[in-house]
Formats: sequence, C-alpha cells, structure tokens
Amino acid sequence: MDVFIVKDYDAISERAAEILSGAITQNPRLVLGLATGSTPEGLYARLIQAHRAQGLDFSQVTTFNLDEYVGLGPEHEQSYRRFMDEKLFGGVNVRPDNTHVPNGLAVPLLQECRDYERMIREAGGIDIQVLGIGRDGHIAFNEPGTSLGSRTHVAGLTRQTIEDNARFFDSPDDVPRFAISMGIGTIMEARKCLMLASGAGKAEAVRACIEGPITSMITASALQMHPDTVAILDEAAAAKLDRADFYRWQDESRHLIEERL
Ligand code: F6R
Repeated sequence: MDVFIVKDYDAISERAAEILSGAITQNPRLVLGLATGSTPEGLYARLIQAHRAQGLDFSQVTTFNLDEYVGLGPEHEQSYRRFMDEKLFGGVNVRPDNTHVPNGLAVPLLQECRDYERMIREAGGIDIQVLGIGRDGHIAFNEPGTSLGSRTHVAGLTRQTIEDNARFFDSPDDVPRFAISMGIGTIMEARKCLMLASGAGKAEAVRACIEGPITSMITASALQMHPDTVAILDEAAAAKLDRADFYRWQDESRHLIEERL
C-alpha cells in the first residue's frame, strides 16, 4: 500500500482530486467507484470546481457507488443516491444513465445484488475505487466478520455504524439496519483503490487496516493484498501508525524516481 500523510482534511481532498482529475484526463472513459459519507465531500467539491474551471469532462465517465441503504428510495433525503446527486453528479456533466447506485427499494434484493455485479462486469470493471473507512475498519458496509471474498450483498449494519451515521437522521431509530453493499471481493477487483481517512476518530481503524493482521474483523485490512492501493491520511488519522516516518520519507523521496516510473 502507498501511504501518504498530509496536513489536514483539505489536503486529503486536494491530493485525491489531483489523482482522479489526472486519471479522467488520461482516460475519459474511466469507470469510477465512489463512496458516500463525510470523507469524500471535499474531493467531490474539488471535482466540481475542476469541471467548472478547467472543463474536466465527465461526459464519458461511468460511476458505481459502493452502497445504498435498504428501504430508502432515490428521493429520500438520506439516500446515498440523493447524496451523490447533490454532492457530485448534479455539479458535473456525467450522464445520469452512466451513474449507478444500488436500488435500496429493489425486490428481490438478492437479484439487485447480482445485477449490480453484472453491470460492473459489463462496464469492464472499476478503474479507481474511492473508499472511506469506518471506525470499526469497514469499507463500504462490510462490517467486521464479513467474508473477505464477499460480493455485492445485503449487509447488516452494526450498532456502532448506525450510531455514527445517526448524525444525518432525526434519530438512530431512523437509520436503516441493512444496506446493499459491494463486497470485499468486488472492491478488490478494482484496478486501483484510493482510501481516504481524516480525523483522530479513524486513527485506530487506519492502524489496523494498514499495519495490523489481515482479518475479516477489520475488512479494510484486505487492502494489504490489493496490488495498487493508495491511502491518503491526515495527521490525526495517521497518528497511531508505527511506520509513519517511513511513509513520510518515501513521499519526500518520490521525486527522485518519479520520472523513471
Ligand atoms: C460510504 C461507505 C462507508 C463510509 C465509512 C466512513 O459509501 O461505504 O464505508 O466510507 O463509513 O464514513 P465517513 O466518511 O462518513 O466517516
């Protein structure tokens, strides 16, 4: 895993936006995996800025979101479809048909999961997958104990995740207990993963993900087996890493070799 430690949340968003803008410029038909939550909001704001100011073109980009709450339709204020429309899709020129978020109202749900996997395959797979990380080490809604080989599935949320996400709802009771979520196996097939983490609340999960043993108890730790994962962390999220000095040193030294890569 390539680990970059930057000053703060803005710097994470900036660095992640540079990577995604560069990738879209290089391949206008990029297939992007996207996350919701607080972490990527700054990244999405910068992509909208890049679209407006520099004409970053999303017209041929395809997107697949990681997850959606079961029971919430696209119009629901807290649905992930609505979040994406508001935070990114509405501000760039992506074709609505090319954006995919699992349908939380689908029946049967298991068919929706199979269809989602098929659509990702038919799009040629995901080129870059953006990820946040939960305090319990989840990526997407792959809570502790989820198989590291899992595919898109109906995932049960832990009480901690429900509490963490309750800030967006009127009360914790309103937070759905289930979601449709890409599995760890699905995420591992993305050609590149970009994991973002900000704040002291994520420091323990980040340590376990990057430097702990690979275990389904911290599903993000599967990324240690991914051939091209970039983690962008701020100082607070990186605070518990044993090898933080090494990661910083590597980052500082990168210019020595960049042109030869
Ligand atoms: C969101 C998702 C989750 C979040 C994680 C962190 O689509 O899949 O795994 O990335 O819960 O959430 P925030 O960024 O709100 O701390």
